[in-house]
Amino acid sequence: MAEIVVVSDQQAAGELAAESIVELIRRTPDAVLGLATGSTPLALYRALAAQVAAQDVDVSRVRGFALDEYVGLPEGHPESYRAVITREVVEPLGLTPSLIHVPNGSSEGIEHAGADYEAAILAAGGVDVQILGIGTDGHIGFNEPGSSFASVTRVKTLTEQTRRDNARFFPTEADVPMHCITQGLGTILRARHLVLLAFGEGKAAAVAGAVEGPVTASNPGSAIQLHPHATVIVDEAAASGLHNLDYYRYAYANKPAWQKL
Ligand code: PGA
Repeated sequence: MAEIVVVSDQQAAGELAAESIVELIRRTPDAVLGLATGSTPLALYRALAAQVAAQDVDVSRVRGFALDEYVGLPEGHPESYRAVITREVVEPLGLTPSLIHVPNGSSEGIEHAGADYEAAILAAGGVDVQILGIGTDGHIGFNEPGSSFASVTRVKTLTEQTRRDNARFFPTEADVPMHCITQGLGTILRARHLVLLAFGEGKAAAVAGAVEGPVTASNPGSAIQLHPHATVIVDEAAASGLHNLDYYRYAYANKPAWQKL
């Protein structure tokens, strides 16, 4: 079962997750981070940047792999995930840009971009901690409902729901790309630790489905139930659909001191 941690707000979630990542980087200075985009992880990245600066943590060897990228946006487009990761993660944390990978979403060479990305993750020794958000339709990465649990990095077609959800980042919904390249559920499940964050009532159904629903490709988030070390950090609103919430609170309150996140 995933560990469910209910916190007061996004900032508290960010600080908790950031503490665990700072510990990881101290233990493993060339740790491999799996980086999500979207609104959800922003508080975590802010907290991580603050902790890294305050504690003078050496992050120069930290490596990173983004979860996904849009296909076909012009290079340097401010909403490309390469640009978002640079702006929200690489620059504030002071990471070494050449060590941070994003799937190649340019139309040229797209046929082998997925296989190239898988090879790069393998060559890096795999992801130590994968940060995840979850879509209102249950997607993780851009693995929309129906994605195989064995899937690897590949091109996918975004659902209309996801294009609507992401329209806020673009001038109009029509400007949201139709295709993306995303790590597969199989890729994500190979990461050594999953940290899924979700905030707000709009995510309550997706969180309940991922944590307690049947394990089914129709709900990609439910793949986390197959992972031996998954942590779900949510606010009260996102936790509100969970049946066993009292038990999760009880388990976390009585967590053995030696056990890390
Ligand atoms: P959000 O997106 O963080 O912007 O809500 C989450 C997701 O689509 O995975």
